[in-house]
Amino acid sequence: MEPHSGERKRETWGSRVGFVMAAAGSAIGLGNIWRFPYLVGKNGGAAFVIIYLAIVILIGLPVMIAEVGLGRFTRRNPVGAFTKAAPNSGWRIVGVLGVITGCGILSYYSVVAGWAIGYTLKAATGAFATLTDPGQTGKLFGQFVGDAWTVLALHAVFMALTVTVVIGGVRRGIERWTLILMPALFLMLLLLVFRSLTLEGAEKGIAFYLQPDFSKVTATTFLAALGQAFFSLSIGMGVMITYGSYLPAREDVVISTAYVCLFDTLAALLAGLAIFPALFAVAEVEPTQGAGLAFVVLPAIFHRIPFGGLFGTVFFVLLTVAALTSAISLLEVCVAYLTDEKGWTRKGACWLVGVVSFLLGIPAALSNGASTFLSNLPVLQMGFLDLMDTIFGNLALTLGALFLCLFVGWRWGPKEALAGAIEGSAYPGLGQPWLFLIRYLCPVAIGTILLQILMNLFGQG
Ligand code: TRP
Repeated sequence: MEPHSGERKRETWGSRVGFVMAAAGSAIGLGNIWRFPYLVGKNGGAAFVIIYLAIVILIGLPVMIAEVGLGRFTRRNPVGAFTKAAPNSGWRIVGVLGVITGCGILSYYSVVAGWAIGYTLKAATGAFATLTDPGQTGKLFGQFVGDAWTVLALHAVFMALTVTVVIGGVRRGIERWTLILMPALFLMLLLLVFRSLTLEGAEKGIAFYLQPDFSKVTATTFLAALGQAFFSLSIGMGVMITYGSYLPAREDVVISTAYVCLFDTLAALLAGLAIFPALFAVAEVEPTQGAGLAFVVLPAIFHRIPFGGLFGTVFFVLLTVAALTSAISLLEVCVAYLTDEKGWTRKGACWLVGVVSFLLGIPAALSNGASTFLSNLPVLQMGFLDLMDTIFGNLALTLGALFLCLFVGWRWGPKEALAGAIEGSAYPGLGQPWLFLIRYLCPVAIGTILLQILMNLFGQG
């Protein structure tokens, strides 16, 4: 099969750095900033970091290579990629699942990113200046997310921002913006790390974060690391297929993806160094994760550190930027599908997906207090946003990653898989080991996470 002949001209990245920044932008998101550090602290510090690194290299990287390779070879969105690599088969459903998942995640990601915008404004105008304990900031957060019009307006603003970037196209929209936003993100992170590490008492936070404790390493530790690695690397819904499809045919997939994994892991590690030393230096505040960490615990300590108002503002800008570059990739997957397969113009596709995801996000936006019903759904006993996250952010991504491995490892054919993923690499000798990992280790590992997710879901009921 000829990889790409006689087709409509397709945009490509302007440079390798452009691809790496866009893909790293997708990978570096809320997961790196508010989830990874806490997982490390709770699961044995440096011991967890070592396990996490091994998993990224042995499982995350091979799967990312497979995704990018499938995209580079077929030069298509996820649906088109599976259709082209396995014509007239049921595999295209995996691509469809990816596109739906993209729209699904985008809908609630945008809601949370809207909160970050709102909190940037709050921090910049000194709204936390008199608040000193999580009880007070918790109340403030409750009022904020419970106010329907505010959260909806911010959700709309963020979605419009995402649409604006993606409308510009691969090179003049996504690449141009991520080339600015990603260095800015790392600069802000380093600034926060510097502030945090120079506080008196910082070493207590470093001890909580990184002190190796191998006694905390159990089978669950591996599962936690595995799940985090997959989520963090944005694997499993075709972002990497789509971004890979804009790579020039001779690009070195192995090296480019290795950079993406490196930056993603670096950002996660730095986030911990920004957060925990500051938390422990101020003391008496329990570390936590997720929205509680970013919107409740941290605002309670900002004003207790010198220039805390400024650093608090930087923190929320960082959160917004991290979410924006991830949202861009989510939108691009759906837009690539509509333009490749359905002949839509980029502009029309961007607005359509943006509006649909905005509407789909409305119940999620109202599910943290604004609507009592949506905030605690009957039977499920969770809010609508959490439900969306469980279905799309958890279940669908894991399923997608599993099918991708099975496809590339077993269905596509070793010759095609190697041509798609490894050809053009400076390290062709990695082909066989890579194929082995994709066929055996990766599906087993991902299958195990899937089982755990299903058991959690149905075990509780
Ligand atoms: N990697 C993102 C994070 O760490 C979350 C994520 C998972 C994601 N899959 C994605 C983002 C797909 C964009 C596209 O927060």
